[in-house]
Amino acid sequence: MSWMRSLGCVFVLSYCYLVLQTDAQITDAQITDPSEVDALISVKNSLVDPMKHLSSWKKGGDPCASNWTGIFCFDTNATDGYLHVRELQLLNMNLSGRLTPKLGQLSRLTILDFMWNELDGSIPKEIGNISSLQLLLLNGNKLSGFLPDELGYLSKLDRLQVDKNYISGPIPASFANLSSVKHIHMNNNSIRGQIPPELSKLSTLRHLLLDNNILSGYLPPEFSVLPELRILQLDNNKFIGPGIPDTYGNLSKLAKLSLRNCSLQGSIPGLSSIQNLLYLDLSKNELSGPLPPTLSDNITTIDLSDNHLNGSIPSFSNLTSLQRLDLSNNSLSSILGEVNLPENVTLRLGGNPICHDANIPNIIQFCEPEDGGDQTAERRTNSKVTCDVQSCPTDDFFEYVASSPVTCFCAAPLRIGYRLKSPSFSYFTPHVNQFEKYVTRSLNMSSYQLSIDSFFWEEGPRLRMYLKLFPPANNHSTMYNATEVQRIRDIFASWQFPPNDFFGPYELLNFTLLGPYAQMNVESHKECISKGVWAAIILAAIACAVVIISAITVSIIVRNARYSQRLPRKNLPLTVQMKIDGVESFTFKEIVLATDNFNSSTQIGQGGYGKVYRGVLPDKTVVAIKRAEEGSLQGEKEFLTEIQLLSRLHHRNLVSLAGYCVERGEQMLVYEFLPNGTLRDWLSGIKIC
Ligand SMILES: *[C@@H]1O[C@H](CO)[C@@H](O)[C@H](O)[C@H]1NC(C)=O
Ligand SMILES: *[C@@H]1O[C@H](CO)[C@@H](O)[C@H](O)[C@H]1NC(C)=O
Ligand SMILES: *[C@@H]1O[C@H](CO)[C@@H](O)[C@H](O)[C@H]1NC(C)=O
Ligand SMILES: *[C@@H]1O[C@H](CO)[C@@H](O)[C@H](O)[C@H]1NC(C)=O
Ligand SMILES: *[C@@H]1O[C@H](CO)[C@@H](O)[C@H](O)[C@H]1NC(C)=O
Ligand SMILES: *[C@@H]1O[C@H](CO)[C@@H](O)[C@H](O)[C@H]1NC(C)=O
Ligand SMILES: *[C@@H]1O[C@H](CO)[C@@H](O)[C@H](O)[C@H]1NC(C)=O
Ligand SMILES: *[C@@H]1O[C@H](CO)[C@@H](O)[C@H](O)[C@H]1NC(C)=O
Ligand SMILES: *[C@@H]1O[C@H](CO)[C@@H](O)[C@H](O)[C@H]1NC(C)=O
Ligand SMILES: *[C@@H]1O[C@H](CO)[C@@H](O)[C@H](O)[C@H]1NC(C)=O
Ligand SMILES: *[C@@H]1O[C@H](CO)[C@@H](O)[C@H](O)[C@H]1NC(C)=O
Ligand SMILES: *[C@@H]1O[C@H](CO)[C@@H](O)[C@H](O)[C@H]1NC(C)=O
Repeated sequence: MSWMRSLGCVFVLSYCYLVLQTDAQITDAQITDPSEVDALISVKNSLVDPMKHLSSWKKGGDPCASNWTGIFCFDTNATDGYLHVRELQLLNMNLSGRLTPKLGQLSRLTILDFMWNELDGSIPKEIGNISSLQLLLLNGNKLSGFLPDELGYLSKLDRLQVDKNYISGPIPASFANLSSVKHIHMNNNSIRGQIPPELSKLSTLRHLLLDNNILSGYLPPEFSVLPELRILQLDNNKFIGPGIPDTYGNLSKLAKLSLRNCSLQGSIPGLSSIQNLLYLDLSKNELSGPLPPTLSDNITTIDLSDNHLNGSIPSFSNLTSLQRLDLSNNSLSSILGEVNLPENVTLRLGGNPICHDANIPNIIQFCEPEDGGDQTAERRTNSKVTCDVQSCPTDDFFEYVASSPVTCFCAAPLRIGYRLKSPSFSYFTPHVNQFEKYVTRSLNMSSYQLSIDSFFWEEGPRLRMYLKLFPPANNHSTMYNATEVQRIRDIFASWQFPPNDFFGPYELLNFTLLGPYAQMNVESHKECISKGVWAAIILAAIACAVVIISAITVSIIVRNARYSQRLPRKNLPLTVQMKIDGVESFTFKEIVLATDNFNSSTQIGQGGYGKVYRGVLPDKTVVAIKRAEEGSLQGEKEFLTEIQLLSRLHHRNLVSLAGYCVERGEQMLVYEFLPNGTLRDWLSGIKIC
């Protein structure tokens, strides 16, 4: 009979082994909050993923244990004993489909990023339940429907980006409760109605971009009390009210005011007290009256073209940073002083009566009709390095670093698609160096490590560019390591750059890992399974066998036995004594001594049921101790039945049970220690690691 028992055991173990091996991570798993795992599976199921970016999201797997693509978890478990999902970053992955309401279950999320995909449907109101959310990034999709009022509950939200979608309906007044918000980008949608004056409560708001919508009503004068407002961009809307409120002269920190094509009437208010105004675009409105007599000395751009402005042109000779002054198509008839502007300023006066005044010398050169091409003409071509072609790989992924201190340093750059959404300048070339310093300093790099591969102006105006970041030349590596790639990505994807109103807000368009970086994602998933984990798998296989055997036994033999309820640890009796042949009953104290009080250095594995420790008994016998976790505790009766069963299993290839401990609500099994996995070799027949 004993050979039959052995054979049965082999079958059971093989089955368990297969179950475990098909999802080897499972033993290492179930450390993530199950309701979050459930939510993520539901996120995946409601998406269409043609490029299979989410293939690592497997039912039965664990997001935090097995590095699901785009998921970042907190490093330490919460008081509930689980790990929680901290970030969901699915930028530019060709995802379509919808956002599931179950996103609301990711209750500790700080970053929700679906930028540049093709999602449709509406924004689920349940996102308003994620009270920890800091960045909500849904721009560049096909989302429609209304903005849910519930988003106003997100009191920790720093950044709300829903621009470039098909969102309709009004801006909810409840957004006045976004008490930490600094950046609201809702441009390029179909948002309509009045801008709620209640938003003047947003005392932290820095950038408000609502351009390219169908907003109507008036510009709220109440906004003049927004203490931190730097950028107000509302172009291409249809306001009907009394024009630009006089009170906006009190927006003392404003850097950019852009109200192009907004159907505004009335006159331009005094803006001279806005010390840091860099960019003023009020073109294509129906503004009348005189030009503002003075503006901030640091202004780069003044565009007041296509209005009904009249009177004279003041002297702008103090505006030493000026790049572009467009006053074309107004009713300006005279000029105060000379046309005395700093070099390289684009001045346009065409379409004004002043152009017909023969008494003003040299005026005619500024009166030619707009050639239009001068912004988009600003492009950059890279200086080429002359080095031995042979010594840099000929593929597209490596190249010589142009301004590297080490000559002919050949390296693989990281390529980043990047766009300035609302820059406060009109020409980039004079600011390229400043920009390179700004970016590299924020990334803690030297400025030679950044190369602007190309840039071009787009409608908006926005400035699109492709950046290349090179590894440092001095540590003999031709590429960044995975830690660095992750660090750099984090800085870009979570907007850790210090605020800069001159360059304005940016958007990350792509951060695609190419060439030698392409494997980086994959590598981390192909780690060898460690010995500790193998020990856990083996022990789990045994546990699995035991569970099956005991399930069968229990159902057949003790059919009528009632399962006692799972009791919380503290309610269990202090000590249970029971005599089982050949199996020792250990006290809790003995186990504590053997494992040095469950010292983490003695831990050799972990599974859904709990942790496995290596212990040394007073007689120097080495044992493996399986300690059940709270959620895995069985009824006492079942546990003892299991021990009885286990005590009868003897096989040359099977670790045998040495003892157990049931005390202080703990359930622990003590096995003979299996030093190097004879069972594993026997089961698999091949060496894996
Ligand atoms: C989670 O943390 C608690 C302490 O906060 C600790 O008692 C518990 O063992 C931890 N659980 C896991 C699975 O690490
Ligand atoms: C994925 O997206 C890129 C750009 O967003 C596009 O060029 C490409 O065609 C898309 N691929 C598929 C399979 O949809
Ligand atoms: C959102 O939170 C509220 C209370 O905070 C709760 O009543 C509601 O059920 C939650 N909704 C979802 C979908 O989780
Ligand atoms: C802000 O929240 C409070 C309750 O927290 C609510 O009474 C109020 O109406 C909200 N404000 C707006 C403008 O919705
Ligand atoms: C926003 O809309 C305007 C006008 O339709 C368009 O010219 C511009 O390119 C759009 N911007 C983006 C980022 O799509
Ligand atoms: C600016 O604010 C001051 C008080 O803070 C107020 O007296 C003044 O009228 C405001 N100016 C405008 C133009 O609203
Ligand atoms: C204007 O620019 C100068 C030098 O470029 C700078 O020192 C000054 O702080 C700027 N003024 C404001 C108000 O930003
Ligand atoms: C130009 O600057 C000078 C001194 O910096 C100042 O006295 C003068 O009033 C300014 N002119 C204008 C028109 O602002
Ligand atoms: C004017 O522009 C030319 C070419 O764009 C440039 O070489 C020159 O340095 C600029 N001058 C100033 C003062 O910015
Ligand atoms: C980023 O996207 C653009 C097109 O949107 C593409 O031309 C470029 O190659 C992409 N860059 C990377 C590094 O994928
Ligand atoms: C990755 O590179 C950084 C900087 O070059 C270095 O400090 C770090 O030790 C490297 N990490 C690994 C794991 O090699
Ligand atoms: C997950 O990623 C972390 C850090 O990137 C790495 O240490 C760990 O081994 C990875 N785990 C798996 C199962 O790939």
